[in-house]
Amino acid sequence: MSNFKNLRIVDNFYQTSSYFPMPTILVSTIDDEGNTSLGAYSLCFPYYVAGKSYYAMILECRNSSNTAQNILKRRKAALNFLPHKKKYFKETVRLGYPGDSSKEKMAKTNLHLEEGLAGMEDQSKRPMIVSESFQVFECSWVSELENGFESQAGQLEGYEPPYKDFNGITSKFGAHFILKIDKIIMKEKYHQAIIDGVKPKSFPKIPVDYGYRDNTNFWYIASTRYMKEPIPAAKEMDISTVRFAADRTDPNIKFSDDACQKLVKVPRIFLKAALESCAKWARDNEVTVITSKEMEIINDKRNKEKKS
Ligand SMILES: Cc1cc2nc3c(=O)[nH]c(=O)nc-3n(C[C@H](O)[C@H](O)[C@H](O)COP(=O)(O)O)c2cc1C
Repeated sequence: MSNFKNLRIVDNFYQTSSYFPMPTILVSTIDDEGNTSLGAYSLCFPYYVAGKSYYAMILECRNSSNTAQNILKRRKAALNFLPHKKKYFKETVRLGYPGDSSKEKMAKTNLHLEEGLAGMEDQSKRPMIVSESFQVFECSWVSELENGFESQAGQLEGYEPPYKDFNGITSKFGAHFILKIDKIIMKEKYHQAIIDGVKPKSFPKIPVDYGYRDNTNFWYIASTRYMKEPIPAAKEMDISTVRFAADRTDPNIKFSDDACQKLVKVPRIFLKAALESCAKWARDNEVTVITSKEMEIINDKRNKEKKS
């Protein structure tokens, strides 16, 4: 006998058949008159996080929404993360009511708008950002992926096939957008906390959309207490494991024993990549033997890169 009960998977399963923690984000886009429009979205997550030439988010939305139509037409969006305050969440829910035009919604908003930083830098026309946000991702739709640009705006009653798999119009009423992150901007206090090292007090109070939704309410939680759980202590490898991999990295570059010793705490799956990046540094700097001294130089360089 299982301790679990099966639940039928239906449309909007993340709301109807589960408890699913999500962000609440106000997405700003530019409407047909050139004004900023705000829509409420939770289905917005990191998509490309490493190993590409850019970083990206994915946004999942109703394709007839102002937001989707504006992205199809003008390709710019800003993801505004507001801290938790009852009045901000109330406003988020109001901005999440389907069917109102941007003009109607924006005329009544009690939030404030200001220019972001991305447009100032690349001179592009961007939506304004919400001043009350603690952080904002300024983004551009990567319309070339899966020829997303073939998806055209204008069909508010539902789209006919063919559909895209993940970028553009993806179903009769759905759209997905891969949004390249052009800038992450943050209020001074939170920015400084990331530079100095975050402490429990430095976290912004964030509303987490609890997924489950009934006919009358959106359910959410305001994070109030931050707890930490230490990452498990690094497991040390035997130095002979490092030596074995080091000797197979580059025939022209030798690693001394004390250099290998410095790598015993690197998780084994990252060892090859770590050795290769040391060897690359050695080739670039015409070094043929890497000792602990060179390892320190490489580490300093890496730390400086991380900081900048
Ligand atoms: C907290 C919250 C989260 C929401 N998340 C989404 C979402 O991820 N995707 C979506 O299509 N609609 C979502 N909605 C509903 C949209 O906000 C709604 O369709 C709204 O009309 C969109 O505004 P717009 O037409 O100005 O873009 C959400 C609403 C709220 C209140």
